[in-house]
Amino acid sequence: MSGFFVTGTDTEVGKTLVSAWLLTQLDGAYWKPIQAGTVPTTDSATVQQLAELPVSRVLPEAYLLPEPMAPHESARRANIALDMEKIKLPPHDGLVVVEGAGGLMVPIVDGTYMIDLADALDLPIILVARSTLGTINHTLLSLEAIRRRGLPLAGVVISGSETPHNRAAIERFGKVEVIAEIPQLETVNRDTLKAIEPELDLLKLATVRP
Ligand SMILES: Nc1ncnc2c1ncn2[C@@H]1O[C@H](COP(=O)(O)OP(=O)(O)OP(=O)(O)O)[C@@H](O)[C@H]1O
Ligand SMILES: [Mg+2]
Repeated sequence: MSGFFVTGTDTEVGKTLVSAWLLTQLDGAYWKPIQAGTVPTTDSATVQQLAELPVSRVLPEAYLLPEPMAPHESARRANIALDMEKIKLPPHDGLVVVEGAGGLMVPIVDGTYMIDLADALDLPIILVARSTLGTINHTLLSLEAIRRRGLPLAGVVISGSETPHNRAAIERFGKVEVIAEIPQLETVNRDTLKAIEPELDLLKLATVRP
């Protein structure tokens, strides 16, 4: 299986934007296994619209939880028992971009975190980091968790206004490659996303085990 598991250093860092960007660069499907919060929209709907994907390329969520909160709590409030066995990648053709909820240590059930879902899916991980102050600490912590579990890491995508010093620190101290920098976009749509060139070969990253 080829594709990416897109995670982030935090919620709201740009995982959905980066997932849509990836799908403007590569042919593939999108899957958000756990969606917490459906108003005003879902990440699946956002990616479908931004990347202008055929609806058939958006795979159904395993869990669609109403409250926009940490999944374990959103599930509790909806009286839903999350079950890792039910979080299985639906059948699809070709490459898949999977977007996690929040960051790597977001709990799913007792003793199981988003990083365990990444492990189970065995896809190269893309870590989305914000460009601004605080990102070095969050990025290095996330990289440490990925490496401690021996998970495949494709690299980092940095989102937001350009901060060359933060990029340099992430590369130097994190010993990681930057796949792309997504500038702070005034207009987010298929054209503006497609215009952002990856710095590395995405197809190779998606298919080759790092
Ligand atoms: N580089 C950027 N340029 C312009 N807008 C951005 C950029 N990065 C993120 N955003 C905007 O910031 C908001 C949060 O981004 P996004 O939804 O991609 O984050 P997320 O990590 O997927 O959040 P969640 O944890 O809720 O899934 C969105 O409105 C998105 O369009
Ligand atoms: Mg998202």
